[in-house]
Amino acid sequence: MKSHEPRHPVTRRHLIVTALGAGGGSLAFGGLRSALPGAAAQDQAADQTADEIATTPVASDPDAATAGFPGADRSLFLPEPPTRFSVNGLLATQLEARPEPTLGAGRLSYEGSQGGLPGPTIRLRPGDTLRVRLINNLGGGITNLHVHGLHVSPLGNGDNVFLHIDDGESFDYEFTLPPDHQPGLFWYHPHYHGDSMQQVGDGLAGAIVVEGGLDDLPVIRDIPQRLMVLQGPFFGVGGAEYPVNGVANPNLAIRPGQTQRWRLLNASANAFFNLVLDGHSFYRLAIDGNPLPQVIQSSQFLLGPGERADFLVQGGPAGSYALRSLAWGTDAQAQPETILATMSSGGDPVPPLPLPTTLIPLGARLPDLTNATIDVRREIVFQENNAAPYFAINGQAFDADRIDQTVRLGATEEWAISNTSPDWHPFHIHVNDFQIMTFNGEPVDPHYEDTVSVPPGGTVVIRTRFLDFVGKFVYHCHILAHEDAGMMGTVEVVK
Ligand code: C2O
Ligand code: CU
Repeated sequence: MKSHEPRHPVTRRHLIVTALGAGGGSLAFGGLRSALPGAAAQDQAADQTADEIATTPVASDPDAATAGFPGADRSLFLPEPPTRFSVNGLLATQLEARPEPTLGAGRLSYEGSQGGLPGPTIRLRPGDTLRVRLINNLGGGITNLHVHGLHVSPLGNGDNVFLHIDDGESFDYEFTLPPDHQPGLFWYHPHYHGDSMQQVGDGLAGAIVVEGGLDDLPVIRDIPQRLMVLQGPFFGVGGAEYPVNGVANPNLAIRPGQTQRWRLLNASANAFFNLVLDGHSFYRLAIDGNPLPQVIQSSQFLLGPGERADFLVQGGPAGSYALRSLAWGTDAQAQPETILATMSSGGDPVPPLPLPTTLIPLGARLPDLTNATIDVRREIVFQENNAAPYFAINGQAFDADRIDQTVRLGATEEWAISNTSPDWHPFHIHVNDFQIMTFNGEPVDPHYEDTVSVPPGGTVVIRTRFLDFVGKFVYHCHILAHEDAGMMGTVEVVK
């Protein structure tokens, strides 16, 4: 397995297709793969040098990479992680978890082939098989691999977080997506209980894109995309930094009037991002990889640990605009305001595209469960206690050998998730996404998520169907400090 080795430069260069008139960085088209016959090469996009970015042929506008930014410091443009594509239904690759001292003491990476973060992006299609040889070269400690949000089997060498891959060992995972798998943005990260925060917090995370869905909508498909993996905080000379694709406060080039699609992953172990883009609206297309039936326009939204957001932005008048995370949280969770990236609008204006309003209705596999017959109702309570277990669900800390919820395959269930503590807790469950029914008692427009942040003293009611896969998996708080401390439970789906 050496598919992570960069190919020769000609191949890479052909595959570095940047965007319709967007300056700088690597913007990809939604339909990128289809434009690339035989796109078998690995790591196509991101190990380009600043020089290559500046000279990369651009699909429709040869000047685009530099237009409007003649004196720009190209090293500040947003790089994207290297990308590995499936070919003929299969992506066989490896991920080597290892220390990355070039990034700073204690930093880890999945062979970050830019000498950096995050791990390579994995691009699949519904029905594909992903084989990953996970190599534990951490030099101490156990790890494993979770594919967050994918609807795949939790058994055997699938999405099985009960596996322990020892230091110096490797393990061959295999994940097969059903042919009707939801297209969208997912991710992978270690999930070894007790060490999840450390390993994810030190850098182990990468994106998984399942292509299709929104990518194929005529109103979306030609819009250039940026994938942004948010990590941190990493503490350097400048204090706490939250790098975007491994770069602190990168420059995001856009033209006045241009529409771009940004896909954000919060791969931080514990941080929330309370997002605003100065002077601009977000037009949200998808949440946690699930397309919304209708675009949601907002000027601010919260992206908790593990969550993803997919949205359009339309470049305003020439100038600089900060993508900020506003001050958020209280007491132990208080986070100061921070600038994540800076959007530079410049170059020749382009006529703004009409923005879509209607997207993809809920489908056959993930239908609107508002009027569904509920087989079982359960209550999940996130608790913080003054004595052990300090972080608990329904009074208990995680025990891998205990089954907390036994569910019938195919059942439709309603879970009320409440939080009796003064902190927020993002609820995540493996294998099956859920529809949010009410948030603190208020009805929510029908859509699916896989991680939802439950506010202090609040309750979120979800409905979910346990489809296709039997086996044991987990639900937990995605603040990984809390998960490591015990805020996790097990569910077993049985025939
Ligand atoms: Cu992203 Cu159970 O995790
Ligand atoms: Cu929590």
